[in-house]
Amino acid sequence: MTESAAPRDDARSNSESVVIFDTTLRDGEQSPGATMHLEDKLQVAEILDQMGVDIIEAGFPIASEGDFEAVAAIAERARNAGVAGLARAIEADIARCGEAVRKARRPRIHTFVSTSPIHLRHQMNKSEDQVLEIIARTVTQARNLVDDVEWSAMDATRTPIDYLCRCVEAAIRAGATTINLPDTVGYALPHEYEAMFRQVRERVSGADKVVFSVHCHDDLGLAVANSLAGVAGGARQVECTINGLGERAGNAPLEEVVMAMRTRGDSLPFRTGIDATYLNRASKLVAAVASSPVQSNKAIVGRNAFAHESGIHQDGVLKNAQTYEIMTPASVGVTKTSLVMGKHSGRHAFKDKLRELGYELADNALADAFARFKNLADRKKVVYDEDLIALVDDEIVHAHDRIKLVDLTVFAGTRGPQSAVLTLAIDGEENTHQATGNGPVDAIFNAIQALVPHGATLELYQVHAVTKGTDAQAEVSVRLSEDGKTVTAKGADPDTLVASAKAYVASLNKLTMRRAKGHDALAS
Ligand code: KIV
Ligand code: ZN
Repeated sequence: MTESAAPRDDARSNSESVVIFDTTLRDGEQSPGATMHLEDKLQVAEILDQMGVDIIEAGFPIASEGDFEAVAAIAERARNAGVAGLARAIEADIARCGEAVRKARRPRIHTFVSTSPIHLRHQMNKSEDQVLEIIARTVTQARNLVDDVEWSAMDATRTPIDYLCRCVEAAIRAGATTINLPDTVGYALPHEYEAMFRQVRERVSGADKVVFSVHCHDDLGLAVANSLAGVAGGARQVECTINGLGERAGNAPLEEVVMAMRTRGDSLPFRTGIDATYLNRASKLVAAVASSPVQSNKAIVGRNAFAHESGIHQDGVLKNAQTYEIMTPASVGVTKTSLVMGKHSGRHAFKDKLRELGYELADNALADAFARFKNLADRKKVVYDEDLIALVDDEIVHAHDRIKLVDLTVFAGTRGPQSAVLTLAIDGEENTHQATGNGPVDAIFNAIQALVPHGATLELYQVHAVTKGTDAQAEVSVRLSEDGKTVTAKGADPDTLVASAKAYVASLNKLTMRRAKGHDALAS
């Protein structure tokens, strides 16, 4: 392997250095409803690059034009990280991937093929020997395009060890530089996963020349435990995602893996290049752009991760934080909020407050968010942090929407029929429609349906208050399904009916984006 090909030159099984490979933009984006715009992906990639991620897996270039564009744009922009694209063991995939990552400082092609009997028999209809031949051929092709080739044995944890070793050997012989042994279906137990790495490293010739990698799914809630066990077994690359976003139950959360190694360095003597103070910001950004809120008790980045409610705990923390805190909130980028926002707060205070909350907006987005904050502050006495988070998330997520809510007037009350007069801008062109319905929300949704005809089914309509009080903002979630695929989106506003219209429109925007991507044709 050439020096430029290695993300960190000393990341071999006997070193302490662990490569962090982030797949939020690839495996994470495969999470139901998490489809992201190009601009969102660029923002996520930028923060990953800044925080010290070694490799950003930016997408699956053959999947769609949009994926290709995103991988190519991230490859061109990443200043520190290497950039990988995913490719099936198919000639056209690998060629397209090589083209997409070409401009990266450290381009990587990540190619994979299934190795387990169940996949070979039922999905691929191939024999073991045929798969060995495919590995040799496709890894060679990838290696002729770039110096840095990762090969993954999909469903490695359900592959008999003898055959797995033969596959790994074939990949190394063909020039793979990183060997990833994923727990694709989240089936492994930590001691089994560790043993698998030890056995493969012991038995395969050339194993000492490559970096082994873990990639764990959380179906049994063991993704982090398994990732750490794999590292104990000699792996020196961890594949993970921000907030654990990913297929089904998700992938190992980057923030948990990194903080476990950092906090328990006494028993996990490994280092990553991650600046952990970015974790909170990255979590908020990914939650917003993927419309995938973080559960409040989520480790490291959940809203309650550093909250002490019990009197005994509060007393202890006031005397000495270490009584009940194993890491400081500041170490993961959670700073104490000091500014209370209201209608007299100026642009400067607003910007400072957003920074405290982990947001750094570009000038135009900041100006828009500030205008919306002023509008909100006129309608609400105190603007809480939660209000600002809802407002800015709304700003980030909907900045590139094709359909926008322009105006809404609703006639509601005991004397029906309830009706709504609604104006939408679709690709900049405004149209108005009046509709009646079985209640004001139904009337609004009927008006939207008339302006944007579609065949999707409304699966969920949910309202919750962002903060306490009758002037609290309402946050509405709407889930639509079409052809077996679902999208979920949110809208926030002090007026519940406006929030409902925003959420419905946001879901339609997501649906439009999903159709345009045609992403679902390719599963991995
Ligand atoms: O889970 C998995 O096996 C994958 C591969 C494509 C690496 O995501
Ligand atoms: Zn995966």
